[in-house]
Amino acid sequence: MSKPLLRVENLKKYFPVRRSILEALRKEPPRYVKAVDGISFEIGRGEVLALIGESGCGKTTAGRTVLRLIEPTDGRIIFDGTDITELSREEMRPFRRRMQIIFQDPYASLSPRMKIGDAIAHPLLVHGLADKEEAKEMALKMLKRVGLTPEDEFYDRYPHHLSGGQRQRVVIARAMILKPEFVVADEAVSMIDVSMRASILELLESFREEYNLSQLFITHDIAVGKLIADRIAVMYLGKIVEMGPTEEVLKNPVHPYTMAIIQAVPSIVRRKKEKKLKITGEVPNAANPPSGCRFHPRCPLATEECKTKEPELVEVSHNHFVACHHPIH
Ligand SMILES: Nc1ncnc2c1ncn2[C@@H]1O[C@H](COP(=O)(O)OP(=O)(O)OP(=O)(O)O)[C@@H](O)[C@H]1O
Ligand SMILES: [Mg+2]
Repeated sequence: MSKPLLRVENLKKYFPVRRSILEALRKEPPRYVKAVDGISFEIGRGEVLALIGESGCGKTTAGRTVLRLIEPTDGRIIFDGTDITELSREEMRPFRRRMQIIFQDPYASLSPRMKIGDAIAHPLLVHGLADKEEAKEMALKMLKRVGLTPEDEFYDRYPHHLSGGQRQRVVIARAMILKPEFVVADEAVSMIDVSMRASILELLESFREEYNLSQLFITHDIAVGKLIADRIAVMYLGKIVEMGPTEEVLKNPVHPYTMAIIQAVPSIVRRKKEKKLKITGEVPNAANPPSGCRFHPRCPLATEECKTKEPELVEVSHNHFVACHHPIH
């Protein structure tokens, strides 16, 4: 890979847990939810990295921290060669245009009282990239570009006039009007009718081609990750446990957790002679993660070592990394 557009090093985000009165009286030390607990990855220009994992494993927190929508507890974020981790609000401004986010719920992320055309034009005005008339012109073009035609009719509609899929097109249009180089797409198709998902993914794909857009594509659904991503990173309780090229990870998963989430989706990949790995229980509380390998209480392969020693992320084959004491071969 040539110089990556984004490099994230040992990123952490801890949220303080509110103490009970009793804990406060006993002067117990503050506790933290270690939502993201030391993750590192790179994304190349035009590359899509899917961040996959169960609810609560820290995907959204990771995406928002990378964009500095929330402040990291530790670690570094390097965007196009600039360390943006500690830039001031003012210094961040030019980067804000270049890095965008698409949220899960297109209804919640649009103001109900703003015409959708104005919503798409708005970022141009905020960033001082166009006057009102130019912004309207550009928003009309963008409406057409995302398939909301006739565009002049759509311009004057309000979010509640639109279907979920159409609203997500508006949200994508609003992010893309700034011609970003990088976007965090957080469960961008999860709340959309299954019948519409493919066309929304295709729309994102078309912007990848047009802008050479890099994406951190967050999803709990590995089947969606398979459709769109060049590489997959699997998260478990704040850590990346496996990362590699999509094909490779799906065909040769090495971490028992990855294997289990792949096996939970029938027919995503067909392999011969594979052992079924059954995982029970739920993701433990991130405020009190298990010792050693955080996955050990649910892992069918766990041994004593897993209870005490935390596995490091190591390269098992070209560009394929895993953190596990008992990798599957
Ligand atoms: N602002 C916050 N304050 C305290 N805890 C938080 C905050 N935001 C997230 N958390 C906690 O951090 C952990 C990770 O949450 P996050 O939303 O990042 O997970 P996720 O992988 O995106 O889950 P989902 O698939 O449900 O969207 C959870 O335990 C969550 O309760
Ligand atoms: Mg989330």
